[in-house]
Amino acid sequence: IGEQVAVFRGHDGKAYVVDAYCPHLGANLAVGGRVFGNCIECPFHGWQFQGDNGVCVKIPYAEKVPDFASVRSWPSCEVNKQILVWFHCDGEGPQWIVPEQPEITNDEWVYRGRTEHFINAHIQEIPENAADIAHLSHLHTPSMLSGADLRYTNSKIWEFVQHDWKVDWKPESEPNKHCSQMFVKHALRVFGCHWPLLDVSVVARQVGPGIVFLLFDQTFLGRGVIMHCVTPVEPLLQCVTHTIFYQSNIPPVVPKFILKVECIQFERDVMIWNNKKYVSKPLLVKEDSAIQKHRRWFSQFYSENSPRLQYQRDKLDF
Ligand code: FES
Ligand SMILES: [Fe+2]
Repeated sequence: IGEQVAVFRGHDGKAYVVDAYCPHLGANLAVGGRVFGNCIECPFHGWQFQGDNGVCVKIPYAEKVPDFASVRSWPSCEVNKQILVWFHCDGEGPQWIVPEQPEITNDEWVYRGRTEHFINAHIQEIPENAADIAHLSHLHTPSMLSGADLRYTNSKIWEFVQHDWKVDWKPESEPNKHCSQMFVKHALRVFGCHWPLLDVSVVARQVGPGIVFLLFDQTFLGRGVIMHCVTPVEPLLQCVTHTIFYQSNIPPVVPKFILKVECIQFERDVMIWNNKKYVSKPLLVKEDSAIQKHRRWFSQFYSENSPRLQYQRDKLDF
């Protein structure tokens, strides 16, 4: 959270992630820095740092490079055409890997677009949506035609088109307890009639706190995946991206339409998140039990030293 990094590709083809700020005098390596071999050279005085371990290997005007000269390097990986960085507040190394989607690597599925949203909410709110079964039939039933502005989504004009959702959420077991799955069955009703051709089943597999793969497999519309990533930017500010990869032989309008529908539905949640508060002891009923299960599952991603939000509610000094 609040970290600035420089990402570069070495001549060995590998992507490296290091702290953006040079340990010498603090210049930003990502602004004007140049790649030499597998090193990055600072734009200010030309110090060079190795991508894999951050060690300084050259100071152009100094006789000797001190042993302790290095920039922090971040554990990262490149998978599914994305560069991912591992963050652990206690500095522990990666505890799982992000699975590869082979169809993306072998170009059977190709990039068809991306959305980006900045959301003012507690990080946990976003994944918790998957286990919040009751909100689907309330918030997401009105058709995408009625848009994302919650003041108008229930307008009667668009009532003839409705989404039906059937959902189930559950955590995976060892050795994948950092994963969970949501099964979604979506149906479209137009004037009360069900259109089976547009039935979509989606498996949303969450890997760790910040990544979800939404896998589409539809007889009529083809196969593909939306990758959903949550990156914490600052306390109560998250950046969420959705990137779609889809069967290359399906006209691009299909995945673009799917991403658009997903985006409109997502923006309804965004309007809730942007304006809600995080309730640590929610008032739940029996039918909400998956939410409690989700909270238990998500708690594995916090540790003793996880940053906690401090705020004073009964005093006036901030
Ligand atoms: S600030 Fe980077 S080399 Fe001096
Ligand atoms: Fe939602």
